[in-house]
Amino acid sequence: MSGRRRPLAARVSELAGPKVLQVDPQRPDPAAIAEAAQALRQGLLVAFPTETVYGLGAHALQPEAVARIYAAKGRPPDNPIIVHIGHPEELGAVAREVPPAARLLAARFWPGPLTLVLPRAPQVPDITTAGLDTVAVRMPAHPVALALIRAAAVPVAAPSANRSGSPSPTRAQHVLDDLGPLVDVVVDGGPCPVGVESTVLDVTGGEPVILRPGGLTKEALEEALGRPVRMGRGEELARSPGTRHRHYAPKAQVIIASRPQLGEVVRQLAQQGRRVGVIATRPLALPPGTLARLVGRGLRRYAHELFDALRELDALGCEIIVAEAVPERGLGLAIMDRLRRAAARPQ
Ligand code: TXA
Ligand code: MG
Repeated sequence: MSGRRRPLAARVSELAGPKVLQVDPQRPDPAAIAEAAQALRQGLLVAFPTETVYGLGAHALQPEAVARIYAAKGRPPDNPIIVHIGHPEELGAVAREVPPAARLLAARFWPGPLTLVLPRAPQVPDITTAGLDTVAVRMPAHPVALALIRAAAVPVAAPSANRSGSPSPTRAQHVLDDLGPLVDVVVDGGPCPVGVESTVLDVTGGEPVILRPGGLTKEALEEALGRPVRMGRGEELARSPGTRHRHYAPKAQVIIASRPQLGEVVRQLAQQGRRVGVIATRPLALPPGTLARLVGRGLRRYAHELFDALRELDALGCEIIVAEAVPERGLGLAIMDRLRRAAARPQ
């Protein structure tokens, strides 16, 4: 360890590992929530469940606390962090201006898996938004996340609680596997219900643009706004640096195959002697030795299981994971986005 002085709490946790607080996901124990909230206020790192994935939380207005998020995740410094609030009225404390479309969407979909990109208020430090003039804000729906943010009574910066680039964590064990001693407190509220991250929507321009498809569907946004909403492209995505980096990737190589091709792709790889894992919606005939993770029918089931499946097949030593493609509508847009990023080769 270097000679630099670090806060006692941080050093103790590095030796002892994080404090894990088990809570009921629907009715979290107020004493456990108060303890985790106190840690957040003191500038410590607290991982907690949201309805999408586990977040790695820190006091969003304390630059030193947010710096610890980047260090723990190994996150590129140009990738801004979502600020989580406990009440829609707190939007005014982090955003300089709230356009009418943003107001409408917040009223309709918060709490929930929608992140709004808005002009940044001056009190949000540079490090939280990676120097951008905008801030991404969301009010999560998970009872544990809401209770924690409200008890902390501060805006909470929280990216997904994984090592940068690896699949997002949907269970407390994933957080411990990836970050372990680098986190001070882990609030374990069981598996995350949605399983893919929030939809990131830029509402700073004339028309709303989806920067990342996620747990709230494009169709739901279009219905609420009464107009088509398009996906961001090129320059627009440069404003959402997270979309530039390779993401969600297990150690294994990922291949996407349509249902009719799935069996044949697996058979060919198995014939070459590769250790293959399959993510499929329902059973199929497979060569002996193939590891299969059946996620069940329906996009909701697939989204719920996706990251855990990638992590599990990795842990079982698969060299290649063949994942069943789904139609790109509803949650299928987010599922295919994550699969494509997982399948991208390192640059
Ligand atoms: O569901 C979620 O959104 C989870 C939970 C914990 O809330 N959080 C999450 O955070 O997925 P993270 O850091 O893994 O992904 C945030 C994404 C990144 O792609 C980042 O580049 C983008 O949001 N983002 C953050 N602030 C932004 C901003 N000001 N402008 C554009 N994109 C932004
Ligand atoms: Mg992430």
